[in-house]
Amino acid sequence: MGDEITANRKDAHLDLCATGEVEPTQNSTLLECVRLVHCAMPEMAVEDVDLSTDFMGKKLRYPLLVTGMTGGTERAGKVNRDLALLAERNGLAFGVGSQRAMAEAPERAATYQVRDVAPTVALVGNIGLYQAVQLGVDGVRRLADAIGADGMALHLNAGQELTQPEGDRDFRGGYPIVEALVRAFGDRLLVKETGCGIGPQVARRLKELGVRHIDISGLGGTSWVRVEQLRASGLLAQLGAEFSSWGIPTAAATAAVRRVVGPEVRLVASGGIRTGLEVAKVIALGADLGGMALPLFRAQQEGGLEGAERALQLIVTGLRQTFVLTGSRSCAELRRTPVVMTGELKDWLSAL
Ligand SMILES: Cc1cc2nc3c(=O)[nH]c(=O)nc-3n(C[C@H](O)[C@H](O)[C@H](O)COP(=O)(O)O)c2cc1C
Repeated sequence: MGDEITANRKDAHLDLCATGEVEPTQNSTLLECVRLVHCAMPEMAVEDVDLSTDFMGKKLRYPLLVTGMTGGTERAGKVNRDLALLAERNGLAFGVGSQRAMAEAPERAATYQVRDVAPTVALVGNIGLYQAVQLGVDGVRRLADAIGADGMALHLNAGQELTQPEGDRDFRGGYPIVEALVRAFGDRLLVKETGCGIGPQVARRLKELGVRHIDISGLGGTSWVRVEQLRASGLLAQLGAEFSSWGIPTAAATAAVRRVVGPEVRLVASGGIRTGLEVAKVIALGADLGGMALPLFRAQQEGGLEGAERALQLIVTGLRQTFVLTGSRSCAELRRTPVVMTGELKDWLSAL
């Protein structure tokens, strides 16, 4: 029963994300407040740019993670396989969506299996913080092992839960389970938000507990409060409208978290990243990788694997172009170039 509800909800979410207004237009990543500085004489060729990096023990060709989205239904399984294959072919990292549906009904595991099409991809499993409390460390480990994951993402989504009629209302006991999962997964645990952002206070505490991968997943892209608002009626729909702009903008979370966690934490910046230029901006702000969900999902829904491939080529070409135009051969060099920050982003960074 519970497993049917979880799977049906997943397909309803996919429908809304494929065509709905799930990116409130009033929200912003604040990446428009970040300007990289033009280098008129780059003295390099496009092919001199080396975008490769390491993630979860694997080598990537691009500093990009397809962040966790789905699984649990046939349609979701197709999304996972297409996007995992895209990641395998292009040297990106790939995350499956919440494995809750598979924990509730093990026969759904096939919809998360991508190793046959993506044998070498850096693969990340996924479970919600409070499902992890219920499953315990062994249950979470079984989910990761069952799909051959290189690492496990633990997602935080209090904003979404509070807008869901069936959502959690008790958010106690999170840090102890993070600590237990760090003991089990070591540096292969990724703690991620889902579009409301991880700020510096939470990031500092996560680092103290031993977390070595954080995806800040900030405000400015897909809003899960908005998704739930579109499914809700009455009071919850009104609350959804009120809180659809709640969160820490992606640019602010990225820069503020990097300041407090130092170089030991691998930082993914996601939430509203849509172009190669924006990936370059978050790297310049201190991220190790950019992350994207909605744009690659939509491209896959509209044009299948080829559609997703076309969308990705535009992103990586823009990314490479930004490196050339700033005279940067690598992510480390880009981070050493000047970054102009203006307006509201400066306000956020002086408060955080
Ligand atoms: C269709 C869809 C399903 C998602 N499902 C999950 C999920 O199961 N677990 C999770 O951690 N995040 C999930 N997310 C959140 C994304 O990983 C990401 O944090 C968020 O959407 C912000 O990135 P974006 O603006 O590029 O979409 C989902 C996103 C989308 C678009």
